[in-house]
Amino acid sequence: MGLDVRKLMPSFGAEVIGLNLSEGVSDAVLAEVKTLWAEHQLLLFRDQSLEEPDAVAFSRLLGDLEIHVRKEYLSPENPEILYVSNMRVDGKPIGILSDTEVGWHYDQIYLPRPAVGSLLYAVTIPNNGGQTSFANMSAAYESLSDRIKGQLDGRTAVQSYENFNAQYSVPTNSDQKQRTPDIEQPIIRTHPISGRKALYICPGMTTQIVGIDGDESRALLDYLFEWSVKPEFVYTHSWAHGDALLWDNAATMHRREPFDGNEERLMKRTTILPPEEFAVPF
Ligand SMILES: [Fe+2]
Repeated sequence: MGLDVRKLMPSFGAEVIGLNLSEGVSDAVLAEVKTLWAEHQLLLFRDQSLEEPDAVAFSRLLGDLEIHVRKEYLSPENPEILYVSNMRVDGKPIGILSDTEVGWHYDQIYLPRPAVGSLLYAVTIPNNGGQTSFANMSAAYESLSDRIKGQLDGRTAVQSYENFNAQYSVPTNSDQKQRTPDIEQPIIRTHPISGRKALYICPGMTTQIVGIDGDESRALLDYLFEWSVKPEFVYTHSWAHGDALLWDNAATMHRREPFDGNEERLMKRTTILPPEEFAVPF
């Protein structure tokens, strides 16, 4: 049929016009969405009205869904949905991440079968702040010098969820800690669908390049982090009610701006896993 798309940035991101995700999609449209997702890395669907089962049903067409390790923030009726929110019910937070700034990271980079994507749906948004930015890590990788690419080729880095939680004061219980030990991942991740290579490191969770001494590793990581967030690689999304944004978590990292904690923000996320065969090592 040929979906109508409008680019968000010259290098990545596209708005898909006129597709109602709650109505279900045909096989032909699904195939096109998958192609566009791999090509543009971020797909924005505006003006959606998604009940939780709708979000789960659409996401499931894209892959197996992860049940997040933070069980306290899952939807009671649909555990495939994670609440990202500062809201409280009966005095208890219903969602992860509250209202503070959250720095650049890949979701689930600390797991052996890291997510290939997420769908985030805006239910309640604050008047100011709370934008989400994405960095195109394929473009960042491709534009590196051959010398740096050579330094990274075949290497792994240590990914630490504990480091992220410590940085952003995210409370973690002993069960969650036990289930998320530090892990090594390849620094260059080859996209399981498109085959395109991307830098697979992030400031929030990557602590060390394996096989390179501490200071040199730190300097190289800092260089790569700064390189990756140059303006030409970054798209910042200002949310509107009803926006659903599907991102490629194998080739983009993301961050969130803080917002006024007196305002409410509720986002609902599903997390899409790659096929089993793309678990580490990939
Ligand atoms: Fe995230």
